[in-house]
Amino acid sequence: MSDVIAVVPQPLVVEPADLAPYVVGPATVVVVPGADADDPALPAAVLVADLLGRAAGHAVQVRFEDPGVPGAVRVRLADGEQAGLPAGDEAYRVLVGPDEVLLEARCAEGLVHAVVTLRQLLRELPDGRLEVPAVRIEDAPRYAWRGLTLDVARHFVSVPDLKVVIGLLAHYKLNVLHLHLTDDQAWRLDVPSRPELVRRSSARSVDGDPGGHYSAADWEDLLAFAHARGIRVVPEIDVPGHVNAAQHAYGELTPTGEPAEEYLGIGVGFSRLHADLPATRPFLEDVFADVARMTPGEHVHVGGDEVLTMEPEEYARLVRTALEAVTAHGKTPVGWQELAHVPDLPPGTVVQFWDDRVEPEPFVAAARAGARFVLSPASRVYLDMKYDADSPLGLEWAGHVDLADAYCWEPEDVLPGLPPGAVLGVEAALWTETLRTLDDLTTMLLPRLAAVAEVAWSAPGPRDLDDLTRRLTAHGDFWDRLGLAWYRSPQGRWGERVG
Ligand code: ACM
Repeated sequence: MSDVIAVVPQPLVVEPADLAPYVVGPATVVVVPGADADDPALPAAVLVADLLGRAAGHAVQVRFEDPGVPGAVRVRLADGEQAGLPAGDEAYRVLVGPDEVLLEARCAEGLVHAVVTLRQLLRELPDGRLEVPAVRIEDAPRYAWRGLTLDVARHFVSVPDLKVVIGLLAHYKLNVLHLHLTDDQAWRLDVPSRPELVRRSSARSVDGDPGGHYSAADWEDLLAFAHARGIRVVPEIDVPGHVNAAQHAYGELTPTGEPAEEYLGIGVGFSRLHADLPATRPFLEDVFADVARMTPGEHVHVGGDEVLTMEPEEYARLVRTALEAVTAHGKTPVGWQELAHVPDLPPGTVVQFWDDRVEPEPFVAAARAGARFVLSPASRVYLDMKYDADSPLGLEWAGHVDLADAYCWEPEDVLPGLPPGAVLGVEAALWTETLRTLDDLTTMLLPRLAAVAEVAWSAPGPRDLDDLTRRLTAHGDFWDRLGLAWYRSPQGRWGERVG
């Protein structure tokens, strides 16, 4: 058994204590001292009771009264100042000793981070019992936005599969799931104002593979599942390009008035809305109003990428209509980097930088005018890129992305000249042109998602790949225990006894 405290992302403070470990056993009970049924600490308490119970093979209770006996896992929201937690909303502390575990944070999201940290610390003994090494961990993230873009348009991802992905995001302390819900091939979210979108344009995926869509009830279920794990869902409706599925459902969005043919290939850049058609503006206003109403989070993503057949003036007009529809409903818009070329973006607009083959100047100018950046440089965090030339899955247009590529980079160097504070965070992306199954998704995510999560969470500094791979060894064992497919990158140290 490895003695490495194998937490990923690396916490700010890890202090192993020279004490006996905590052993999960019949005395283990989760306590939320003095709680009532509305206590914001309760979801995290239920999560930790569930995970300890499942890992140990017996039910673990949640109690509001502290029994004051050895074995308690206490879950507590604390006043940050008094508790001496690191700064920031998401800060948390995990204290493990032989007789008790304390999980403490300022808010519910921080408690989820404490819970998953405890999960990463669990070790199985040869006799099957579970123990947690005695340790003090205190931690807070570097960036507030740590996400994954997931393309559910090219290949549909079912609700149960999406919940597995959400679980992985939480495990690596990512807090944004950005769903790319619409594209040329399909439209995946049922919106009340345009029922034909999913009725006509969701049944299939690329190459004629099976499709699907999220009903309003599915959407609520996903949002609640994500919320309980500290994750916000950012829905993307991609306009004014990547719209063939919308034009297949509604012929009024094409110049001839005839519905577009279904498209199940993987080309990009050929479809576009038309600013001068009477149906276009109501379509944008209604659809973004629907999505804003269906989504409690602050952000709605308007797409804006790869519109290859439109003059800048028409592009700006269409994007502006989408942006206004989003802000009219009290949301802050997000868009791909092409948005940076639109003058006078609404204050606080979030620009997602992805194509790192370009010069930084227009983005620096947009940031000076108030835009904020989420960084998804394709050559680092597009996790649909092949690991190497032999990878059976994935694409190669941004090169090969192995573990070291995903890990050894500095976000603040991606766009030199950005004003301080312009970078909100980092978002990996998984496009699904070639990815059909949950195994395909997790093979591309693992191990690279853990590396990107550490770049987004942990303190800046030179990235020590050797240190990451030492910690990731135990994670490979964990993915195996969960039955997840993953890629044994030759850059890792899988199966080694590392200490
Ligand atoms: C993108 O990869 N087209 C955002």
